[in-house]
Amino acid sequence: MKLLILNGVNLNRTGMREKSVYGTETLEDINREIAAFCAARGAECEFFQSNLEGDLCTKIQETDADGIILNAGAFTHYSYAIRDAIASVDTPVVEVHMSNVHAREEFRHQSVISEVCKGTILGFGKKSYILAAESFLL
Ligand code: DQA
Repeated sequence: MKLLILNGVNLNRTGMREKSVYGTETLEDINREIAAFCAARGAECEFFQSNLEGDLCTKIQETDADGIILNAGAFTHYSYAIRDAIASVDTPVVEVHMSNVHAREEFRHQSVISEVCKGTILGFGKKSYILAAESFLL
């Protein structure tokens, strides 16, 4: 089992931006934890982050992973391109968010990708990624 952990726009700033919302650990710290969690269960992980919408679409199209864990960041709320990329492949995608987007600003309440994802996990900080990984490994 191979999982692609895909992070979108501004997620490279995790640990440095809005610490009260996203915590103080960097994306690298979080990725290390996800990798250890997966390795302990015999799964392989690949990590990719980009601030560019098209890069994320290409990665979704070209990955050889068995499943994708996707935090698209703000793209979640308006990127029909990412939505269509997900719909164009058979690879199951689990949408994740560290924060509870429904408890935040109105514009974050809508996800244009949820409908084409297998499921959504949100509001558990870095554990959202771990819970998403677990959903593939159960
Ligand atoms: C986020 C929530 C989004 O609304 C926001 O734009 C992000 C991060 C989260 O992980 O909580 O960049 O996806």
